[in-house]
Amino acid sequence: MSNAYDAAHRRSLADPEGFWGEAALDLHWYRRWDRVLDASRAPFYRWFPGGMVNTCYNAVDRHVEAGRGEQLALIYDSPVTNTIRRINYRELKDEVARLAGMLAGLGVGRGDRVVIYMPVMPEAVIAMLGCARLGAIHSVVFGGFAPPELATRIDDAMPKVILSASCGIEAQRTISYKPLLDRAIELARHKPAACVILQRPRERAALIPGRDLDWGEAMAAATPHDCVLVEATDPLYILYTSGTTGQPKGVVHDNGGHLVAMRWSMRNVYGIQPGEVFWAASDVGWAVGHSYMVYAPLIHGCTSIVFEGKPVGTPDAGTFWRIIAQHGVAALFTAPTAFRAIKREDPEGKFIRNYDLKGFRTLFLAGERTDPDTLRWAERQLKVPVIDHWWQTETAWPIVANCMGLHPFPVKPGSPTKPVPGYDVRVLDEAHEPAPTGKVGALVIKLPLPPGTLPTLWNADRRYVESYLEEFPGFYKTADAGYIDADGYVFVMGRTDDIINVAGHRLSTGAMEEVLASHPDVAECAVIGVEDELKGQLPLGFLVLKAGVNRPPGEIVVEVVRMVRERIGPVAAFKSATVVPRLPKTRSGKILRGTMQKIADGQDFRLPATIDDPAILDEIGEALRGIGYARGKGAAG
Ligand code: COA
Ligand code: AMP
Repeated sequence: MSNAYDAAHRRSLADPEGFWGEAALDLHWYRRWDRVLDASRAPFYRWFPGGMVNTCYNAVDRHVEAGRGEQLALIYDSPVTNTIRRINYRELKDEVARLAGMLAGLGVGRGDRVVIYMPVMPEAVIAMLGCARLGAIHSVVFGGFAPPELATRIDDAMPKVILSASCGIEAQRTISYKPLLDRAIELARHKPAACVILQRPRERAALIPGRDLDWGEAMAAATPHDCVLVEATDPLYILYTSGTTGQPKGVVHDNGGHLVAMRWSMRNVYGIQPGEVFWAASDVGWAVGHSYMVYAPLIHGCTSIVFEGKPVGTPDAGTFWRIIAQHGVAALFTAPTAFRAIKREDPEGKFIRNYDLKGFRTLFLAGERTDPDTLRWAERQLKVPVIDHWWQTETAWPIVANCMGLHPFPVKPGSPTKPVPGYDVRVLDEAHEPAPTGKVGALVIKLPLPPGTLPTLWNADRRYVESYLEEFPGFYKTADAGYIDADGYVFVMGRTDDIINVAGHRLSTGAMEEVLASHPDVAECAVIGVEDELKGQLPLGFLVLKAGVNRPPGEIVVEVVRMVRERIGPVAAFKSATVVPRLPKTRSGKILRGTMQKIADGQDFRLPATIDDPAILDEIGEALRGIGYARGKGAAG
């Protein structure tokens, strides 16, 4: 029997122009599009060409003009500083217009890039919206990245201006952002014309005369700026994400298609009404922060929580419940790792009983697979639907989900449920043929991708095609493996490339290997992701030393751990490595990372037929046992 989900999904694929053309009517357009979908340059597809819009107008001004200026837009909650700040739509509009004016005063205009390197705070949201107001393209860089990573992004995006803050506030320490920014600008070839620095009371930064401006002073001197008309196909932002090399990919999202997808998904995927309070407990530096802390809730006219804290330790494992109760949160979106952290500290859920959560309807989890234990624990404790959903920085909104606003299906643990309308998800085998039901293969999406997804990579059309479109012609390669069962539920099993997922953060082991390989004593190396109870996966390095090196291996390990922290950042959570005599390889020289991972996790593995010398696997097992891994029953089968 057909239901609202089936009808929507079927129509979105059979008549994408009709489906998304109607969805687009929910937004404000200065000029209607010429076509809903332009496929004339396939595989480069464009949504709503000819349309003129402004994302900031739709996220802010539109609500004020509709008489909802007094409704709260943002609630900033910072448990470490004991601060709660409420900003309504009218105030948000004033701040954003002023910020846009400040940027315009610094020569920023439509199409110019602005890098935002800030912690989670309202000013970061205001900065993003201020760029959107001017038609400038923002690129937010996560604060846990080290200066060389920030420098790479500055060189690729070539911003006119960088917006930053003096410091970020973590549970146990204050992170000085300004020295990291100064170092990154030193390392970068491209130099911004100006940096505007928000001085936070906890730590004031030294400003460099002639380049740095004080945020407060610059805002006070600025003239508010109105919304600038942009093409629907103009980029709204670039968000860098890990690729298979040290060079991150600049994922682009445009204005028109993104507006439509954000609005549509709030109602239909998340089941949220305008005026409700939505909370994405993420960081502005990640895709979840962009889409569901900033753009989607505001475009939909909701109140969004801006949380500068952690699920545990700020101050305790009850913080999430305190915020839900105090601010009337209807739905929370976070990563499973956050729930594993809470469960570890409060397995009985005692903190939950201290709060009245009756307005709380749904918990959404993404960023990594939700393990069935965590799912069941969260369901038992919260007594609301717990919805795993699958998406990527590249899509900006869910590919597979249980669409709460259309037709909720029974949850199957381990599956994010069914393809979201707009996404034609298939499983292909090694011969690129459709895999049988229930059989694992490459998860791909038939082109065109729906609105809001990446039209290309920044300044890298060729890399876009090579990375996503070339291997399976006519399809977008998600680089995840999985299967679809007889009921149409999709199961996502893990990446097919060298990306690992650490606490919901996407990291490239290839990038870490580049760092290890640059150590003067290292001849060869490999990095794999090993299972971790809290973070899902953790990186682990293997080092083969150059002939003649006879320093204590422990010293070299300490050095490479420090190097990864200094070059990639604390977010990599690279804390262990081991020295081995050699690496297992196929006869053609390919390192058997998958087999090493299985040995480390204590899983059974098949002895690869092409391995040059199976005895190496015993050496690897021994080295791993020496650092506390490979303790399970794993054996060659
Ligand atoms: N700026 C600077 N440094 C940061 C940072 C930021 N914005 N965010 C994290 N870091 C640092 C941390 O201080 C930590 O440094 P350390 O090695 O000195 O301890 C390191 O980066 C790793 O951070 P994190 O992965 O957050 O680990 P954690 O041990 O501090 O916390 C969790 C573990 C599970 C509580 C945490 O990962 C979490 O809350 N996850 C929620 C999920 C999430 O945000 N997912 C994103 C996509 S939805
Ligand atoms: P990011 O681009 O950081 O959002 O990371 C995207 C990757 O995270 C995906 O390609 C998956 O490997 C993984 N991922 C995200 N959500 C899920 C999920 N619900 N289930 C399984 N894997 C997920």
